[in-house]
Amino acid sequence: MARVIDIASEHAFDSRDTEKSEFAEELLDGFTRPRKMIKSKYFYDEQGSELFNQITRHPDYYLTRCEIEILSTYKKQMAELFDSSPFNLVELGPGEGIKAEILTDEFLKAKLNFTYIPVDISMPYLKSIVRESNLRTRGLELMPIHADFFRGLEWLRSHSSRRSLVLFLGSSIGNFDPAETLEFLRHLSASLKRDDYVLLGFDLRKDIDILMRAYNDSDGITRDFNLNLLRRINHELGADFDLGKFRHYATYNVYSGAMESYLVSLEEQTVSIEATGHSFVFDAIEPIHVEYSHKYLLSQVNELAQQSGFEVVRNFMDSRKFFVDALWRMKT
Ligand code: AVI
Repeated sequence: MARVIDIASEHAFDSRDTEKSEFAEELLDGFTRPRKMIKSKYFYDEQGSELFNQITRHPDYYLTRCEIEILSTYKKQMAELFDSSPFNLVELGPGEGIKAEILTDEFLKAKLNFTYIPVDISMPYLKSIVRESNLRTRGLELMPIHADFFRGLEWLRSHSSRRSLVLFLGSSIGNFDPAETLEFLRHLSASLKRDDYVLLGFDLRKDIDILMRAYNDSDGITRDFNLNLLRRINHELGADFDLGKFRHYATYNVYSGAMESYLVSLEEQTVSIEATGHSFVFDAIEPIHVEYSHKYLLSQVNELAQQSGFEVVRNFMDSRKFFVDALWRMKT
């Protein structure tokens, strides 16, 4: 049975209270700006993660299916990157671990010598990966790390001299703003060794109707996913949001190439949030920005590699060219 390397709990004494006060502080900061906002990382409490899993399976949300097609089509080429020397297959934010499983199955079939290392700040996800892998009993060497991404990579660098392939899939990178994206990628390249590879999922620019459908799905799961943020704030920070007085609104910004999601106040109202010690006034039709989902040109993806210390090895795309898994190597 794989043991979870628990770095997060070592660093946080009384992590629940610290998390809660950080959430309250960031919310206060976001709600006192001229344009109110909530950081999208707060979507993913237990209920939010479950709603997100449902989104990934919805017919209107093409991203996950495209990436599964890419991994299934090119898994052999990915296995051919490695010889018989042992290496680490590291995954940042594995979610349910379904996508990496396509690669781990192929790597096991090719008798490669590797350890699968999912890194996540969410313990439930890691535990479910361990459970699933035990059920499948396929002889997969598994070493989950409970940590934020960079602490996890730092730990790995000081405990393993093996080469790594680091996965950051699902277009999670698209949820950063442009400055954060570059900062994240530079930090990533600084955390890796000379021969390491990364495989990064980027959603590509496409017909606006397809994008609009993906973020306004016909069953309202994305709506519930966004409104769940307010439910979470009520529950965790003692707020009195009336969910019926806000609506989900997702739109495409043609200049930045990002889907942008908002919660829009349907009337003038005042909401109190106990943990912030404040009440907040919302005008009628005032938006709260909750998420960017950036869509890229292939040229922008290649440029990001250049700007952050990587070189492009290959761009793996699905048959409709909706999505790319970009394979980069550390620049020598
Ligand atoms: C996690 N992330 C890549 C998703 C996206 O597409 O930006 C989150 C999401 N938001 C609404 N639907 C899915």
